[in-house]
Amino acid sequence: MRKPLVAGNWKMHGSRTFVREFADALRQAPPAPEVDVLLLPPVCYVQELAVSVAGLDIGIGAQNAHWQESGAFTGEVAPAMVRDLGATWTLAGHSERRAGCGETDELVADKCSAAFAAGLRPIVCVGETLAEREAGSAEAVVLRQLDAVAARLAAGELAQLTVAYEPVWAIGTGRTATPAQAQAMHGLVRGRLAESLGAQAETVRILYGGSVTPENAAALFAERDIDGALVGGASLAADRLLKIVAAAAEASRVRREN
Ligand code: 13P
Repeated sequence: MRKPLVAGNWKMHGSRTFVREFADALRQAPPAPEVDVLLLPPVCYVQELAVSVAGLDIGIGAQNAHWQESGAFTGEVAPAMVRDLGATWTLAGHSERRAGCGETDELVADKCSAAFAAGLRPIVCVGETLAEREAGSAEAVVLRQLDAVAARLAAGELAQLTVAYEPVWAIGTGRTATPAQAQAMHGLVRGRLAESLGAQAETVRILYGGSVTPENAAALFAERDIDGALVGGASLAADRLLKIVAAAAEASRVRREN
């Protein structure tokens, strides 16, 4: 049974005050223990968050980390540095970085590998653009992005990978993939992982991201291969994030009973 994971990607939002207030809200209403909850603040707030949520069962991650351990990379942050601040997770290959920072499939694979080497758990983001979907190449794009990472990792690492399917056309647009569209892609991803991992592919968590809200989360989480969410906008309000966590907890209970 896969434990659901709900991750809040704050993108370039927040402040030290925001972090402390968010942590206070979580302390007032701790998330359901059936769900792993993870927050991904801007890297400058990782430490503030780590201190603020001390004692709460909240994971902390970076939105990005470099593929090198150190060196002449002005403005960059190494995986071991975010680990040092208190993060244990990192995103790799978010579409905003693939599109805006020129991150290639190979570089994303390098970042996943470097994250594991530094003791971070990477969540690799995959997903097609609207043009790619309309051209009928959504599946090929997602599998290409996944294959690049799988080829780079040891089998033991691949089994520890978390995948986030985030169709680019659904990010920040209010246009969520339908549960059926998302499930189709998640099933495809799991099938591809099974080619390398066999039955262990059943333990890999595959998150959906793209305009997830408290209103649409339950329908997404009811799908077999949707193991949680990578939430952007709705993760900036603790009460909305907690509602999404509650929906994941409920879906997990239903799965256990069936
Ligand atoms: P939204 O939930 O704001 O669409 O963002 C999704 C996302 O990109 C999370 O990484």
